[in-house]
Amino acid sequence: MAILNIIHYPDERLHTVAIPVVEVNEGIRSLAADLAETMYAAPGIGLAATQVNVHKQVIVVDISEERNCLQVFINPQIIASEGKTEREEGCLSVPGIYEKVTRAERITVKALDVEGELFTLKAEGLLATCIQHEIDHLKGKVFVEYLSRLKLNRIRQKMVKLMRETL
Ligand code: NI
Repeated sequence: MAILNIIHYPDERLHTVAIPVVEVNEGIRSLAADLAETMYAAPGIGLAATQVNVHKQVIVVDISEERNCLQVFINPQIIASEGKTEREEGCLSVPGIYEKVTRAERITVKALDVEGELFTLKAEGLLATCIQHEIDHLKGKVFVEYLSRLKLNRIRQKMVKLMRETL
């Protein structure tokens, strides 16, 4: 396993649309393990392959306090959603920024697990928000892009400044 480098907003590579996984093989299992290790090390509650510049549809999530409930979603698809809820979100690709985003309150997601088995999961609350946030990454969308242009521009400037300072 390895800790991978997380790319930061406004890096254009975050806008790449990920392609579906054709075969869940050792390479994909190894990617999922690396994503998990990177997420736990950060620490964060979710990570998409897009954020480590791998453009395959793989996300990992763990919202548990004990950090022992890893969930891997390969080719995830939201097949049903209902309700609306607003929650403050953050992102490992946009460090230090926390903003409220409105998303579906409850979702049903269909995905493959690390064995390549299809499963369906109903999620609500933080888990539902987190899964929607990570699936957005696979579509090339970062949560700050739900905000107003004014707010987005401020965040963009802040991130560019931060990057210059850390070079
Ligand atoms: Ni994120």
